Amino acid sequence: METKKIKILSVVGTRPEAIKMAPLILELKNDPFFDAALLASGQHSDMLSQALSHFGLTPDENLKVMKERQTLEHITSSVLVGVGAFLDANPQDMLLTHGDTTTTLAASLAGFYRKTPIGHVEAGLRSRDMSRPFPEEANRVLTDRLCSLHFAPTGLAAENLRAEGVSGESVFVTGNTVIDALFWTLAQNGEAKVLRGIPEEAPLALLTAHRRESWGEPLARICRAVRRLMEKHPELRLIVPLHKNPEVRNTITDILNVSGSKNIVFTEPLEYPEFVAAMNRSLFIMSDSGGVQEEASALKKPVLILREISERPEALDQGTGLLVGSDEHIIEREASRLLEDISYRESFTKRGGGSCPFGDGNASKRIADILKSYFSGRVRERFNA
Ligand code: UD1
Ligand code: UDP
Repeated sequence: METKKIKILSVVGTRPEAIKMAPLILELKNDPFFDAALLASGQHSDMLSQALSHFGLTPDENLKVMKERQTLEHITSSVLVGVGAFLDANPQDMLLTHGDTTTTLAASLAGFYRKTPIGHVEAGLRSRDMSRPFPEEANRVLTDRLCSLHFAPTGLAAENLRAEGVSGESVFVTGNTVIDALFWTLAQNGEAKVLRGIPEEAPLALLTAHRRESWGEPLARICRAVRRLMEKHPELRLIVPLHKNPEVRNTITDILNVSGSKNIVFTEPLEYPEFVAAMNRSLFIMSDSGGVQEEASALKKPVLILREISERPEALDQGTGLLVGSDEHIIEREASRLLEDISYRESFTKRGGGSCPFGDGNASKRIADILKSYFSGRVRERFNA
């Protein structure tokens, strides 16, 4: 008799969800135990398909909810209705959501309303400040309340969940799947077009910024600090992959695309392997991205974190990350020091003893094994006990 396959639906909406879920989706698709499907909310349009295509993934369905300068209400309501309708037409044994975007929360809520068990990948990250990052802290806290299985990337994330009263039986420390994606991509060792015009001897840095709480004056301060850095250091080259969001793109180009910008390479969002190569070639990174902090840790690159508060204290403890917020003086001072002082730069990677706290590249395999145990009854029995 043929055994019934376990139907698992992964929902992704934005670039980081695609990159971080791709290794797990591939793992599930390659395992005959599962019937794995992929639903894209389309919260991001081009950035989502760009990220998925690197892993050879095409969504089974795309809700295509994105609108120019979309509101949080628009994303929430359209993803909630769209995922609900998909689940009605295609009932699932489990729904997997990732991280802390508005797609994550709305898709999880749709699963919860249909009593479909939900597994939350990258569960348990906490800044403990609902306004920073906004709205991500609320998204992940609420999502964790709705889930049956919590895949915590680190021991600290697992502790956060237990401290909130989440049953320890439902929490698994797996590592972060972004490290799987990073190692998979590094192994391909592709050529990076973005680095072609950068002289080999030139020091290089990388800048990304997009967070909602930085829109306006904080982002303008970050850009003014970077402009002064570039003026002070004519030898420095900088790659700036611009996020598609016009709200951030305009501020960055208005302030940086002036004097001193001849050493700045502005690009469209980079294909993941190109971005990985740019991180790897850089002396240091300036970013407000969550995923970039984790990748920088694995690549042992110093990263100036353009945020006031972090839900990834592991990078600060390890020493690869330094919180600089949006203070013009601090950003310029720390970036100059990283550029000029080799021993300061090296101290970032030496302090933590070298290992990456975010994972070892095997998180997806662990999650797939846990899902198998859950559906074989071994984990579930413990839940129902
Ligand atoms: C979203 C997530 C954030 C995540 C980030 C990753 C929410 C509320 N925010 O922020 O948690 O860190 O993605 O990048 O879930 N746009 C395009 N093409 C694209 C993508 C975006 O044109 O492929 C433009 C659109 O005008 C869109 C705007 O960017 O309205 C903002 O997109 P949105 O997903 O709302 O916010 P992000 O800042 O991208
Ligand atoms: N990234 C990419 N191309 C780029 C910029 C970023 O592939 O031009 C990758 C990066 O390596 C990381 C992820 O996108 O894996 C981070 O996405 P983003 O900064 O948009 O979101 P966050 O991590 O802040 O949620």
